[in-house]
Amino acid sequence: MNTEKPPKTSKTAKAKVDNTEVATTVTTSVSTLLREHAENQFAEELAELAKIDTKQRPPNWKLSPWAVSTYLLGGKLDNGFEVSPKYIGNKRIIEIAIATLTTDRALLLFGVPGTAKSWVSEHLAAAISGDSTLLIQGTAGTSEEAIRYGWNYARLLADGPSMAALVASPMMRAMADGKIARVEELTRIPSDVQDTLITILSEKTLPIPELNSEVQSTRGFNVIATANNRDRGVNELSSALKRRFNTVILPVPDSADEEVEIVQRRVESLGRALELPAEPPALEEVRRIVTIFRELRNGVTSDGKTKLKSPSGTLSTAEAISVVNSGLALAAHFGDGYLRAGDVASSLIGAVVKDPVQDRLVWKEYLETVVKERDNWKDLYRACREAD
Ligand SMILES: Nc1ncnc2c1ncn2[C@@H]1O[C@H](COP(=O)(O)OP(=O)(O)OP(=O)(O)O)[C@@H](O)[C@H]1O
Ligand SMILES: [Mg+2]
Repeated sequence: MNTEKPPKTSKTAKAKVDNTEVATTVTTSVSTLLREHAENQFAEELAELAKIDTKQRPPNWKLSPWAVSTYLLGGKLDNGFEVSPKYIGNKRIIEIAIATLTTDRALLLFGVPGTAKSWVSEHLAAAISGDSTLLIQGTAGTSEEAIRYGWNYARLLADGPSMAALVASPMMRAMADGKIARVEELTRIPSDVQDTLITILSEKTLPIPELNSEVQSTRGFNVIATANNRDRGVNELSSALKRRFNTVILPVPDSADEEVEIVQRRVESLGRALELPAEPPALEEVRRIVTIFRELRNGVTSDGKTKLKSPSGTLSTAEAISVVNSGLALAAHFGDGYLRAGDVASSLIGAVVKDPVQDRLVWKEYLETVVKERDNWKDLYRACREAD
């Protein structure tokens, strides 16, 4: 199976054409980045896909919908090139998401925390527009200016309102350039501010009354928003806005195998990015963590025999990834480089016990009735007893 390539950017490749010196500087500065944008990290995969992609591309799309879905789900191209999967799960969900973006409706990725909503949104924007950076982070403090535009006050005072004094939002830039704009955590944005999106999504224009002007969307523009169902009720989506979005629900991984694969892949690539001097975790260790997460989340042991109480936290796949990852850091720097039960115990407990009273009881009961009794789990039982 192909794994993610080390960071390499198209910027570097382009710079090399006209000036080798520039290329080296760009490469150095890029390789020191803690986290690359998807379009840079996977520049090679995107370029390979573009090369063989003969299917029809919607206006202003860098790739055809087929190639975008291959980029997300992974696969082997006819020329033998392997595209690594970014999203592991139901293919149809991704196809529906991509198809939505070819229409005049925007896409809302919805689901419990840690189901790869932000991750999928970033990769979709990278594959479709070659740019995942047109991002608005939704918070309770997100203002209308963040979605529409603001002003450079020095210029505004000096020269009065003009296009030059206007500070475009990522949304405005996406509209002008025909790209995908991303709105993270849409339902955290106050409802009246959310409604700014209605004109943008239905009229495809952003009026600038101060200049008696507007920015009209170029073809290719669309919006991907994410929202978390735990935040439901913080600010409901107005029904007017709901009608303009196609909602796609990203589910928690179906099977334990699928979840183990997600954790394994992400931990491997994160470990590589952080240059952790540790061996990739043994599959068995990852499987144990995932089993614990799934059993506690579902409230029943995997054999279906014992009912369990669920803790208050979400125990998402994303948290399983960070438990293994912190364990790996411990193993790398304070152990022998191999992930062992003692390295994961404390972050595992930290992930489960969010409420010091209730969750601790739930965890203790699970530890004593399930972990203790399993044949090959004695090391984990001991490590958890010691860590607590
Ligand atoms: N089905 C999946 N396929 C691939 N990666 C996944 C999957 N589910 C979760 N992940 C991984 O989980 C991590 C967290 O995902 P992300 O931050 O996108 O979650 P989210 O749904 O946006 O969560 P939140 O609601 O908390 O914002 C990512 O690193 C992602 O790779
Ligand atoms: Mg998110």
